[in-house]
Amino acid sequence: MVQAIRGMRDVLPDEGRRWRAVESELESVLSSYAYEEVHLPLLEFTELFSRGVGEATDIVEKEMYTFADRDGDSITLRPEGTAGCVRVLQQHGLLYNQTQRVFYRGHMFRYERPQKGRYRQFYQLGAEAFGMAGPDVDAELLALARACWQKLAIDGNVRLELNTIGSAADRGRYREALVAYLSGYVNDLDEDSRRRLTTNPLRILDSKVERTREILAEAPVLTDHVGRDGRAHFDALLEMLDALGMAYVLNPRLVRGLDYYNYTVFEWVTDDLGAQGTICAGGRYDALVEQLGGRPTPGAGFALGLERVLLLFEQQNLPTAAAVDVYLCVLSDDLYTEALSLADRLRLELPELRIRVHAGGGKLKNQLRKADQCGARWAVLVGGEERARGLLALKALATGEQTAVSIEEAVARISNTA
Ligand code: HAM
Repeated sequence: MVQAIRGMRDVLPDEGRRWRAVESELESVLSSYAYEEVHLPLLEFTELFSRGVGEATDIVEKEMYTFADRDGDSITLRPEGTAGCVRVLQQHGLLYNQTQRVFYRGHMFRYERPQKGRYRQFYQLGAEAFGMAGPDVDAELLALARACWQKLAIDGNVRLELNTIGSAADRGRYREALVAYLSGYVNDLDEDSRRRLTTNPLRILDSKVERTREILAEAPVLTDHVGRDGRAHFDALLEMLDALGMAYVLNPRLVRGLDYYNYTVFEWVTDDLGAQGTICAGGRYDALVEQLGGRPTPGAGFALGLERVLLLFEQQNLPTAAAVDVYLCVLSDDLYTEALSLADRLRLELPELRIRVHAGGGKLKNQLRKADQCGARWAVLVGGEERARGLLALKALATGEQTAVSIEEAVARISNTA
C-alpha cells in the first residue's frame, strides 16, 4: 500500500468532527466582527513569496514547495496567506482608497521538520485588515483573536506576547548596532547565525543554540532603537489593550520569521503543547502592498494554526459529539427505500441531527449493535408490528425503552433530548 508523504497529515472521522466544530466556532467569531471571506489560490508565482515574505527568510530559503509548471514558470504551493491575500485584493482593485477586513482559510505548505504540531501541510485561518494605519485596528485584531479563544474556552491556556519592531529605518539602525556587537563574537556563533550576520541578522535573535543565546543576552535590544512614531503607536495600542482588559506580556526579543512586518508584532503562545506552542501570530505590515507593486496601503493581520488550536481544544477534554444521533434499523430488505424516505423526513424536521440508515441487511440485534457503536442515542425500527397502525418503534438506546409513536411524536421526543 502506498503511504502518505511525510508531514502530510491525515484527518480521520473523529478528529474531522471536532475540526468542523472548532472551525465553525471560529468562523462565527470572524463573521461577528464583520470580516468577509476570500478564497486564495493554492498556487502562486514563486516571485510573490520571494518578494513578499523575503528572500532571506527560512520559508523562502529552504521551506517552499517550488516547481516549474508545464510552461516553465516557477510556481510555489503557498507557504502562508498574507502575500496571496494582498495579491488578490490588489489585482481586483479592492485596496486603493478603501478599507477592507477579510479572512481566509486553507492549507499552507512548508518543508519543515515534522513533529507534533508541526507539519508540512497545515491549515491556517487568517484575518487581514487593510487601509487602516492606526493602532485601533491592531487592538481590534487582538480582541478578535481573544474572542476566538474565549469561544473555544481555551483563553485560560494562552498568553499574548507583544513587541514593536519599529519602522524599516529603525530596524536598519538596529541592524547596524546588532552586527557591530555580534562581529565581536564571530568565532563563537553557530554556523547558521554566522551566515545570517550578512543575510538577515535579525533572525539570529531566534537562534536556539545555547552559546549564541548567551552572546545575545548582552546584545543591543531592538525596542531601544524604535523611533518616536513607532513608540507612540505602540504606547497607544497598549493603552487600548489595558482599557479592554487584555493581558499581554511584552517580549522585546519577539521578531517574526517573515520579513514584511513593522511596528506591532505578536504571538499567542501556550505552554500546553510542548515545543510548538505558538497557536497564532501576526502583526502590522505597512510596506507589503507597495513592495508587491501596489500603492502604499497599511495592513495588519494574523493567522492561527488550526491543528495547534485543535490540539489545545482537545486537551480540555470537552465531550465530543457522537458521529450519529439517530440510527434507522431496517427489519426486512424490502423496506429499505421506505426507511430512506422516513430518514429524509426526519432530517427535514431535525436538521441539526445526524441521521443514518442501516445498509447491508442483517439481524436486528446486529443493527442495534452498530447503532450503539456509532454513539446514536435513538434507534428507529422500520418494519415492526407498529407499522400496520401507522406508527414507528422508537428505541432510546441508553435505557433500551421502546415505544410506538407517530412521526410527530418521535420528532418531539428526539428533539427534547438533542
Ligand atoms: P506564521 O507565524 O508563519 O505567520 O504562521 C502562523 C501560524 O500558523 C503559526 O503561529 C502556527 O500556529 C501555524 N503554523 C505555521 N507553520 C506551521 C506548521 N509547519 N505546522 C503547523 N502549524 C503551523 C504567517 O503565516 C503570517 N502569514 C501570519 C500573518 C497574517 N501575519 C499577518 N497576517
